[in-house]
Parts: sequence; structure tokens; C-alpha cells
Amino acid sequence: MEGMLCFFIISYQEGHDMSGKVFIFPKESNYAHVSLITQLEKPLQNFTVCLRAYTDLSRTYSLFSYSTQTKSNEMVIFKTKIGEYNFIIGGDNIFFKVYEPFPAPVHICASWESSSGIAEFWVNGKPLVRKGLRQGYSLGARPKIVVGQEQDSYGGKFDKCQSFVGEIGDLYMWDSVLSQEDIQLVYEGIYIKPNVLDWQALNYKMQGYVVTKPHTWS
Ligand SMILES: *[C@@H]1O[C@H](CO)[C@@H](O)[C@H](O)[C@H]1NC(C)=O
Repeated sequence: MEGMLCFFIISYQEGHDMSGKVFIFPKESNYAHVSLITQLEKPLQNFTVCLRAYTDLSRTYSLFSYSTQTKSNEMVIFKTKIGEYNFIIGGDNIFFKVYEPFPAPVHICASWESSSGIAEFWVNGKPLVRKGLRQGYSLGARPKIVVGQEQDSYGGKFDKCQSFVGEIGDLYMWDSVLSQEDIQLVYEGIYIKPNVLDWQALNYKMQGYVVTKPHTWS
């Protein structure tokens, strides 16, 4: 029984300091992923997610997948193609366009505020044109959060064609909308203590072919 579990669960880490490190998803698959574990017991009215990614994929891929028992696409950050991001809240979509070099490491932050519905998207510290959706909605609690794959069910049903191949690091999530000043600081690598997901005290489960290594970007 234990042997079986060990076969499927490669690594479980609690409060692990990932600073200076990345998850490498070295190979396309419909399985390799990291589950990020958080104690989120109440619905979320406001949030910000930031992360760095480095990939040379030009197809669609998922950067961040947040599902609940009732909605697999409760919140998703997708890259649809070079120069375009898709941000999903409560199953609804908006798109953000950006001029960007390819391939290059990128720092992104996405935030959303329930009361206005306004979504902000920042690429390398620069704000993209703001859009709005799902005003008055709240993200469901007790999510399953996955990087490396996109969930089409609560914690599973992955699609190889939406998988991430490349490197992900510096992932943080707050239950508030960060100010422009704070986004700049986070982009510069300054630590702003998050209360949902903290790269410097990360609870995660790595499954399939995923490797942690020091990052090579600066
Ligand atoms: C969410 O943001 C709004 C507007 O900024 C604020 O009024 C509200 O208190 C926030 N909600 C929570 C739970 O922090």
C-alpha cells in the first residue's frame, strides 16, 4: 500500500523554501504537475497571483489552474498564444494583449476585485489594459491549485495540449489586490508576505516528471 503511494507521489513538501529555485516541467505530458496546497476556507473576493515563467511553447498552455468542487475553471491563467493571455474567473474569459519578446523569461501578476469586477494584468511590471468580469462574484473556497497542467475536473482531467513545458518560479498569491507599488516590488524580487501561497514556505505535491533546480534567469 505504502509502496503504491510512493510510486504515484514523488514528493510532498511542507513549508518548503523555494527561493532561488524553479519547478522544471521538462517534457510534455498529460500528468506531470505540482499541486499547491493552501488553507483557504472562505470564498475569495480579491486576490493577486504573481509568478515567473520561462518556456518556448508557442501553443496554448496553462500557467495557473484553480478549481473548486463545482467549477473546474474557477480561476485560470492561460497563455493562448504569443502576445496574448487569457484570464478566467468563474468560468468567464477575458483576454490581454501584450508586446513581448519570445522566448524570454516573463514575470506576470494577475489580480481581480469582486466589487468592481476589474481584472489587472501585469507583464514584467507593466500594466496591460484593464478589463472587467464577474462583478460581485467570489472565488470558491477549498480550491485545488495546479501548475504544469490545466484541470478540467476538481484536481484532474488534464489535457496534454494545455500542459506547461518549461520553468516556473517565484509564485505567490495574496487575498487582496496589490497596489502598483507592491507589484513593482514583487517584480524586482522583493518579498511581500502573501497569505494564500508563499514560494518561500510552499506546501506542495509534485507528481510525474517534475524537477526542482536553481533558476538560471536573473
Ligand atoms: C475586497 O476589496 C474591496 C474593495 O477594495 C473591499 O471593500 C473588501 O473589504 C475586500 N474584501 C475582503 C474580504 O478583503
